[in-house]
Amino acid sequence: MLKFAPSILTADLARLKEVVQEAEAAGVDWIHLDVMDGVFVPNLTFGPILVEAVRRVTSLPLDVHLMIVNPERYLEDFARAGADHITVHFEATYHPHRAVQRVKELGKKAGLAINPGTPLEAFEPLLPELDLALLMSVNPGFGGQKYIPTATGRLQRLRAMRDQLNPACLLVVDGGVNRDTVREVYQAGADVAVAGSALFNGRPVVENLKALKEVLYALGGG
Ligand code: DX5
Ligand code: ZN
Repeated sequence: MLKFAPSILTADLARLKEVVQEAEAAGVDWIHLDVMDGVFVPNLTFGPILVEAVRRVTSLPLDVHLMIVNPERYLEDFARAGADHITVHFEATYHPHRAVQRVKELGKKAGLAINPGTPLEAFEPLLPELDLALLMSVNPGFGGQKYIPTATGRLQRLRAMRDQLNPACLLVVDGGVNRDTVREVYQAGADVAVAGSALFNGRPVVENLKALKEVLYALGGG
């Protein structure tokens, strides 16, 4: 079964509590929180105080995706705010290994993410220590972008690498997952799909989630 992690980036944040609880009631697996600093990516979102606010309204795992330079500066703050998973970008620090170790010391699940232009081999030295390997299927920064087709072959190769080096590590795909692409990412081996605009788009999350799952049920593999 593919797990779903809705990104609140495209949700109506004036109704933060309602949208998170609506997603939880619909049966999503995690809540994905996209933290952006306007430097690593050309957009700004939010920091630990919003993570802490979401923490108070749901018991789902909070999956925090840090798109910020030198994320090691803030790992403790996000851990304290209630993050369950903390994912840092390979490209955003000189020391991704140290950042991953620090997340684990803080008692949280540690993820490493790479951009569409970064060679997959970046994962290799760290995979044995990762809880999550996040492959970007759009360039990070904005919700609602189109899935980059080369992500599918990269997912397949990453899946093979994961199966060999650390079968317990979850493979997460992030960006452009919708009814047209969900089958492809599932078949390529993703364990978890982050979805923003496909789940939060003004229509009820429960219906949007059902539509995605129906594509997978049709394969007999959902
Ligand atoms: C992009 C973020 C994603 C993204 C997902 O920088 O990491 O989580 O917003 O949104 P959709 O599903 O709309 O591509
Ligand atoms: Zn994300």
